[in-house]
Amino acid sequence: MDMNYQDRIPNNIELGANRTLQRALEHWQPAFLSWWHGLGPSDFNAADVYLRTATSVDAKGWATYGFVRMPEYRWGIFLAEPEPDRRIGFGDNFGQPVWQQVPGEHRSTLRRLIVTQGDTEPASVEQQRLLGHTAPSLYDLRNIFQVNVEEGRHLWAMVYLLHAHFGRDGREEAEELLERHSGDADNPRILGTFNEPINDWLSFYMFTYFTDRDGKFQLKCLAESSFDHLSRTCKFMLTEEAHHMFVGDTGIARVIKRSLEVMAEIGSQDPDAVRRAGAVDLPLIQKYLNFWFSSSLDLFGGDSSSNAASYFAHGLKGRPDEPRFADHLAADGMFALELPNGQGGVKTEHIPMRNAMNEVAREAYVKDCQMGVTRWNKVIERAACDFRMTLPSPRFRRSVGSWAHVPTDTAGSIISKENYEAHLTDWLPTEADRAFIRSLMKGVYEVGKIAGWIAPPDRGVNNLDINYEYVKFH
Ligand SMILES: [Fe+2]
Ligand SMILES: [Fe+2]
Repeated sequence: MDMNYQDRIPNNIELGANRTLQRALEHWQPAFLSWWHGLGPSDFNAADVYLRTATSVDAKGWATYGFVRMPEYRWGIFLAEPEPDRRIGFGDNFGQPVWQQVPGEHRSTLRRLIVTQGDTEPASVEQQRLLGHTAPSLYDLRNIFQVNVEEGRHLWAMVYLLHAHFGRDGREEAEELLERHSGDADNPRILGTFNEPINDWLSFYMFTYFTDRDGKFQLKCLAESSFDHLSRTCKFMLTEEAHHMFVGDTGIARVIKRSLEVMAEIGSQDPDAVRRAGAVDLPLIQKYLNFWFSSSLDLFGGDSSSNAASYFAHGLKGRPDEPRFADHLAADGMFALELPNGQGGVKTEHIPMRNAMNEVAREAYVKDCQMGVTRWNKVIERAACDFRMTLPSPRFRRSVGSWAHVPTDTAGSIISKENYEAHLTDWLPTEADRAFIRSLMKGVYEVGKIAGWIAPPDRGVNNLDINYEYVKFH
């Protein structure tokens, strides 16, 4: 294979000068492309899609727009510019120079952290692979493909780290990233949420709002890492991640807006009437929110975690936005954790701060999630509708941590198992709810048209008209 990798793979890692890495990537690339054709967006690989491609990390090059066929997307390898004399920002080695090589004693832990992050990237592409058939508009179709190719690039970013810094073990892990599959009974993706099916666009918007936002916080934690290449890689990924959350945030807002318009048109806020008029009633949007928010909370891991403490102590994974904290050692602080007391009530336990790092990140995430909810509620309020969206309590429907499998209501009060099960149909989408949402899912691919269950976006991509022909079929 005499592909010019310097041209094919835009990069700022001097790939041309690194024969070993080139060979490793030459080997991996055909496997990646065959994965993309098999499990990437189904049936749209011949379409010309108006996509953003990163061709460099500076302001001019990181978002280069143009029509591309997805399999020809230039999956580049980019690290944020190095920070001169960067120092370790937290943990026991605070203030020492960051690492340009992986220290032997942290090799397997860092590899595991990179693999766990890397596994989520292709997983989401697999989860979303059929949604192209039911996009509400060309604008939305283009957006999902943008998200998909960038998750593909994030996979490349993690594979680059594995190939460049973890030798043969890294190469094997890179292959396995293409072998596990979302929802596969025998060989699933590593984390629960990434095995949940995404069969409709409401789920897609919830996923990009809540689950990509978990990604944002994980990347923020890894961007603090003492392993400088991991830090720089994650910093650049964060610039792209912002768009994915924008798609979710505005997507949910547009479904709500349409719902409010329909309520005004029919002069009723009755959920059944809203559904009969072809829009999504607000209580159903709330149910989808409950599902994806609670699932995404589990991605942060246990609330009291010795692994988290050791990642922090060794400088492998920090807190999101570490500089905003005053004490970067966190060696003797305590964290007050609220736990079920085993008798139907709640107790407070003080645990060492370092053991609470997952919880610290989760709390920052919850705050961030709330901002969109507050914005959506303003729109609802302006429409003189009494309904309000709420984030359920982080105790609700958890599978990981102290609250795992403790039955609570959405406000976080512990209730009996029977009571919990009796109420689940009020809190989470039922089969009938999902069937209703699926009944709305019909692809709208005519320029200037949009599905009836969602409002058009406020503006188009890259200053183009909202009705621009973002995807051209052949
Ligand atoms: Fe990603
Ligand atoms: Fe993402």
